[in-house]
Amino acid sequence: MPDLFSPFTLKSVTVRNRIAMSPMTMYRSVDGKMSDFHVMLLGSRAAGGFGLVFPEQIAIQPDGRTSTGCAGIWDDGQKDSLQRVVRIIKDMGAVPAIQLGHTGRRGSEMKPWHGKTQLPASDPDGWQVRGPSPIPHGRRYTLPVQELSVAEIKEIHQAYADAARRAFECGFEWLEMHFAHGYLGASFFSPLGNQRADAYGGSREKRLRFHREALDAVRAIWPAHLPLTMRLGSDDFNEHGIQFDDAVWAIGQLKQHGLDFADISLGMNTDDMKNVPFDQIGFMVDRAARVRQEVGLPVGVSWNLGIPAVADRIVRQGLVDIVFLGRPALANPHWPLWAARELAHADPYSLIPEDWAWWIRSRRGPEGSLGWPPVQTAADAK
Ligand SMILES: Cc1cc2nc3c(=O)[nH]c(=O)nc-3n(C[C@H](O)[C@H](O)[C@H](O)COP(=O)(O)O)c2cc1C
Repeated sequence: MPDLFSPFTLKSVTVRNRIAMSPMTMYRSVDGKMSDFHVMLLGSRAAGGFGLVFPEQIAIQPDGRTSTGCAGIWDDGQKDSLQRVVRIIKDMGAVPAIQLGHTGRRGSEMKPWHGKTQLPASDPDGWQVRGPSPIPHGRRYTLPVQELSVAEIKEIHQAYADAARRAFECGFEWLEMHFAHGYLGASFFSPLGNQRADAYGGSREKRLRFHREALDAVRAIWPAHLPLTMRLGSDDFNEHGIQFDDAVWAIGQLKQHGLDFADISLGMNTDDMKNVPFDQIGFMVDRAARVRQEVGLPVGVSWNLGIPAVADRIVRQGLVDIVFLGRPALANPHWPLWAARELAHADPYSLIPEDWAWWIRSRRGPEGSLGWPPVQTAADAK
């Protein structure tokens, strides 16, 4: 029975443990390019033992960013900065993963700490947002939405394929399509965002067409031996939105189109979400486990899983294959090493780069002086 520290193999890729740094938008890019900040952020998490490391959502088109401070991959000129990030993640022993996305009607945002609001197209940092239907998301997201034409949808699918090609050229080994959190893909699947009367709207089959075609476009480019995955908005927590049963069905459909893994998250297609247990530990785990069981695909999940014993238990119980950590990865770059100590792993320092671990193991100093509270493990006792 695997535990949190067991390797996980999908296609030709082996991740050294079951711990992923979840994608997190940092609003620190310029012209869509990453910088020393991202090399530091992602390199330190890879060095801290995370097995799979995602930079933030990477936009496939300029208007697919959350803000003008967000990263992109719509231009070959952006590849250098992504390659730097890939290099450090690999050097530190982790698998470099990329999340491709388009923010749709939720783009054109101000940096959250400047005020969580959308900027109009007239602002130098704003743009005309686009979506399946001319329906603003609501509350904080009030900008008028331009309905995408079928030709524009095809352009977006081509942009996904071009982005996948660049991602492979950069050296990424795991590709996730971001179809959750109220962004473009999620809003196509949700009746709350999609009220089209053409082939892309109406029944759930039609509302999933955007996903199927995007997946087909990427599958045709992304090598068959590398994992192709999706973060799916699986529940809008609103009676008029995506219901979880529909998401289970959708993942079954997408499996037939070459999906290798599902990362189960929230739909967030409205700010009028009802009874989301945001304070509850692991509140999306049961949903992910159901997909794993009923669809027969490996799954990942995030949301409040930063307690090591919980993260370990859900892997041991066969509920999920990979635990995605967002805020815990921001809070503690060495979360995997810390968790290994907490869980009495036989050799916690085996989670960090070998040379670095050698110094710590062989130059220990007095008990407790390494900066960790003393936990006695089998290797510590040697
Ligand atoms: C600062 C921040 C930025 C985020 N940006 C993204 C993103 O770019 N793509 C995405 O899919 N989720 C994003 N998320 C959601 C996280 O990936 C994760 O799913 C969520 O925080 C729940 O996991 P946690 O409880 O471990 O934080 C973001 C979360 C945070 C805190």
